[in-house]
Amino acid sequence: MSKDTPSLPLDQVLIGDCRQVLQELPEDSVDLVFADPPYSFAQYDQFTREWLTACRRVLKPTGTLWVIGSYHNIYRVGKILQDLGFWFLNDVVWVKANPMPNFRGVRYTNAHETLLWMQKKKGARYTFNYHAMKGLNDDLQMREKAHPTQKPEALLYRVIMSSSNPEDVILDPFFGTGTTGAVARKLHRHFIGVEIDKKYVELAMKRVNQVVQLEFDPPIYVTPNPRRQKRVPFGNLVENGMLEPGQLLYFGADGTLTAKVLADGKLSFNGQRGSIHQLAKTIHDGPSNGWKVWYYWDEKEKQRQPIDHLRELVREELSKQTKPAKKG
Ligand SMILES: C[S@@+](CC[C@H](N)C(=O)[O-])C[C@H]1O[C@@H](n2cnc3c(N)ncnc32)[C@H](O)[C@@H]1O
Repeated sequence: MSKDTPSLPLDQVLIGDCRQVLQELPEDSVDLVFADPPYSFAQYDQFTREWLTACRRVLKPTGTLWVIGSYHNIYRVGKILQDLGFWFLNDVVWVKANPMPNFRGVRYTNAHETLLWMQKKKGARYTFNYHAMKGLNDDLQMREKAHPTQKPEALLYRVIMSSSNPEDVILDPFFGTGTTGAVARKLHRHFIGVEIDKKYVELAMKRVNQVVQLEFDPPIYVTPNPRRQKRVPFGNLVENGMLEPGQLLYFGADGTLTAKVLADGKLSFNGQRGSIHQLAKTIHDGPSNGWKVWYYWDEKEKQRQPIDHLRELVREELSKQTKPAKKG
């Protein structure tokens, strides 16, 4: 379980109607939503407005949402998304390799579905792994299906790789047979599924649990983005005054172990000096990313935050400085 999201029911399927179930989750808590809603529903617009409102509440301000559908529903969904204040990033066409032919020959075969990619708030920072996307270009193939509208894993693979990072929380309010969960697990993301139909929940969990999750190794799962991944030494945070020499850092969001920040950008823990990574490794045997495990007290937010948060602020500042000047 990710340390900064302790109260979320991670990697589970919640049984029930997503419009109600989502009320139990904290607001601004998930990084990404992928939704494949049912098509036919009495009072479709009202239903759509309700589930989108519920998703919007739990989505972080930096989060984005994907909805997939066809001409039956996607235009109505798009209008309601805009009414609710979501901001369009893209509409993406998924061309089906084996569409159902139109046997009567009275109109064209419908051979695609449309994905709408929206951000919660216009202008907020959001994840788009452009460099990872350049590598994934082959066709999306259908596999065997256990649900009439089951989506291929390759489609979800691309959605998740493009717009989330390892450890992120992905919500699927219409979980079905759990395609989102299976791919999330494979790619070291967390998922929260909601599904109204019990028979699918069992099937989905069985499917997700069959996914073999290999040990997390950042170079395998993270595509470096030269712009965002600018190296920021921990010492920069001390130089900038974001952290003070002598200040305490906490190991974990709730842990009681503390280390002291030293003036030279090292930490001291139990009489030992070392980098944020070295000391994390001595405490927690195994691979440790010091940026994720050390927390500082954020006086403004009145809570502990990972020091990675400060590194992000530095990176944002740096990227502003290196942006090309706008043409006049
Ligand atoms: C289009 S299917 C999703 C299929 C899924 N993407 C997959 O790959 O298996 C929609 C699913 O939403 C479920 N559903 C319908 N209304 C719901 C609601 N109000 N809350 C939660 N789930 C709901 C249905 O039982 C169905 O399994």
